[in-house]
Amino acid sequence: MVDLKSQYEKIKETVNASIQTVLDTNTYINGPEVYAFQKNLETYMGVKHVIPCANGTDALQIAMMGLGLQPGDEVITADFTFAATVEVIALLQLTPVLVDVDLVNMNISIDAIKKAITPKTKAIVPVHLFGRAANLDAIMDIANEHNLFVIEDNAQAIGANFTNRKGEKTKVGTIGHVGSTSFFPSKNLGCYGDGGAIFTNDDALAHTIRGIVNHGMYVRYHHDVVGVNSRLDSIQAAVLNAKLPLLDQYNSARQNAARKYSAAFEGHENIIAPMICDVCDCHVFHQYTLRIVNANRDALMQHLLDHEIPCAIYYPIPLHSQKAYKDSRYKEEDFPVTNQLIQEVISLPMHTELEDDQISFITKTVLDFFNK
Ligand SMILES: Cc1ncc(COP(=O)(O)O)c(C=O)c1O
Repeated sequence: MVDLKSQYEKIKETVNASIQTVLDTNTYINGPEVYAFQKNLETYMGVKHVIPCANGTDALQIAMMGLGLQPGDEVITADFTFAATVEVIALLQLTPVLVDVDLVNMNISIDAIKKAITPKTKAIVPVHLFGRAANLDAIMDIANEHNLFVIEDNAQAIGANFTNRKGEKTKVGTIGHVGSTSFFPSKNLGCYGDGGAIFTNDDALAHTIRGIVNHGMYVRYHHDVVGVNSRLDSIQAAVLNAKLPLLDQYNSARQNAARKYSAAFEGHENIIAPMICDVCDCHVFHQYTLRIVNANRDALMQHLLDHEIPCAIYYPIPLHSQKAYKDSRYKEEDFPVTNQLIQEVISLPMHTELEDDQISFITKTVLDFFNK
C-alpha cells in the first residue's frame, strides 16, 4: 500500500545527515531537533503551539487530559474510524458516543452529532478520515452553540486545508480547541518509528499540555498534575525536520495519483471514486478509497490480490460492533451509513512514489474485474 523504501532512497542524504547530528551530539531526548521541529511545524501549520509527543494515540489522550475532561463526560466521535480515537476516550473513563458518518465524505455526520448531544456532552472529536477535512464550519457552530470542545483527530490529514464559509483557508488540526496528529511511518508526514503532535492556539492549554507530556512537570521534579511520559525522540524529530519541507510536494503527489485513478474510473456504474476538489485542497489522500456498488467488493479484492496489487478494507468492522466498544445504547439503525461503507469500501495503493505505469496497471486490473 505504501513505498517507504523508494521515498527514503530519494532523501537518504538529508535524512542520514539529520540523524547523524543527533548521534554526534547524544541528545536523544528533548534535543534541539525536537525544538526545531516544533517551531518548523508551528510555522507550517500556522498555529501558535505545537507540542510534540510519542504517537498520535497519546496526542489524542493528552489533548483530552489537557482539556480537563472528567469521567462520565460524553465525547461524540465517528463510528467509522481507526480505534485509537475511541480507545483513549474509554481509557480516560469518558463516555464514548459513537455516531454515524456521511456517505459522500465519510466523515462524522453533522445531523448525527446534533441528535447525540445531551447535557453530559463535553466534546466532539471529528476525524479527518482518509485525508479529507470534516465539515468544521458546522462542527464549530454546534460546539459554540452547546459550549463543547472540539478535538480534531488529524492523524490522517496533515497538510489538508479547510476553507471556511468566509473563504479563509486554514490547516485542518488547528481549527478546533485542540488538534492531534500521528507521524506513524505510513502517514502523510511519517517518521521512522512512532511520533505525534498536539496543536492549539490556546496559550494556557498549551502550557498545561507541555507539562502533561512530561510527567506533569512544569518545574523539574515538581509534579503539579498527573502526567504521562510521551515525548517525540530526537532521532524521529531529525527525520521529520528533513521531511517536513517536502510535505506539500508529497501531498501533491498523492493528489495527482488520486486524479489519475479517478479519471480512469469516471462514470463507471459500479465504482464511486472519492470527490476531488481542485480549488480548496481539502483532501490530501492518506488513503484512496473507492466505494464498490452493486458488485462483489470482496471478489474485486481477491482479483487485485491475485494480480499482486495490495489493497485493504479500511475499516472492516464499525467501532460500535467491536467487542471492546459494544454498548446497549447503540442500535444498528443508528448507523446505516457506516454499516453500508464497511460493505463497499476498498482502498488502493496510495503513496508519494506511485508511477504512471503502476497506476495504469492498477486501474486496468480494477476495470478488467468488471468486464470479466
Ligand atoms: C484516525 C487516527 N487516529 C489516531 C491514530 C493513532 O496514531 P498512532 O498510530 O501514531 O498512535 C491513527 C493511526 O493510525 C489514526 O488513523
